[in-house]
Amino acid sequence: MKYKGRHIISVRDLQRSDIDYILDKSSEVKAGKYSNLLKDTVLACLFFEPSTRTRLSFEAAVTRLGGSFFGFANSDSSSASKGETLKDTVKTVTGYCNVIAVRHPLEGAARAASEVARVPVINAGDGSNQHPTQTLLDLFTIKEKLGSLDGLKIGLLGDLKYGRTVHSLAMALSLYNVQLYLISPRILQMPDHYRSYLQRANISFVESESLDDIGKELDVLYVTRIQRERFGDSQEYEKVAGSYRVTPDTLDKLNSHTRIMHPLPRVDEISAEVDETENAIYFEQAHNGIPVRQTLLGLVTGALE
Ligand code: NCD
Repeated sequence: MKYKGRHIISVRDLQRSDIDYILDKSSEVKAGKYSNLLKDTVLACLFFEPSTRTRLSFEAAVTRLGGSFFGFANSDSSSASKGETLKDTVKTVTGYCNVIAVRHPLEGAARAASEVARVPVINAGDGSNQHPTQTLLDLFTIKEKLGSLDGLKIGLLGDLKYGRTVHSLAMALSLYNVQLYLISPRILQMPDHYRSYLQRANISFVESESLDDIGKELDVLYVTRIQRERFGDSQEYEKVAGSYRVTPDTLDKLNSHTRIMHPLPRVDEISAEVDETENAIYFEQAHNGIPVRQTLLGLVTGALE
């Protein structure tokens, strides 16, 4: 009963033992061990920001195991457009469902939602802050492909300043024995508080603006999109847009076994020719959103222990 009623807001709230447990359960769920697991689950998807994979995989996750969902996919179609506060929306919706997934452009929004919800809240991304369910499916994919999370050399490439996926992922990886490579344009470096977090966890990391001397080392290259919508100034975005492009030529700079991941959507960071290579695992990664989200929904609603 350890997870029943728990909110999933930040990777910071999870211990290594929690993550290992969730990943092990996700393997069982993926293997089909729990049919109809979510038959009593009614999920509310409150998405105040665009989403394809996160929202649709939450919805597919719950329906494929017998549950149901409702919600909205943008704030224009909710009373947020009339000026309703997030807390009032959540105070209402909490009476319609038994779990809430919320995505919002403001950092801290999921935490605020959890303060007024009477059901578990799962953070589906809050601004540049956190995206814990993405991280869990990323870790699940790495473990599935490489056998373990320990002993790996992992490069995070692209927008390390605004990308919530890499913020959550770096924090989670700090619970394992990994070597990190943070590769970004200078103005998109990992913010200080995440770097301090890694230092406090004794994780060794190398920062670089180029993949050139690092690529051959990597077990995993995690590519991210430059988060255009989070730039205050579009000229700043133009300076770094298209900074990195993973093409078939880039593969020569990587190890033959380097796995390429991306939370998606991609804009131009990875060319479509790379999709057909053995290195590319980003669509499998996206598909793992189903078992991992099914597991989380099961755990927080108490359907799974
Ligand atoms: C990411 C997000 O929304 O943070 N997408 C996702 O959830 N798979 C990454 C992004 O938008 O670049």
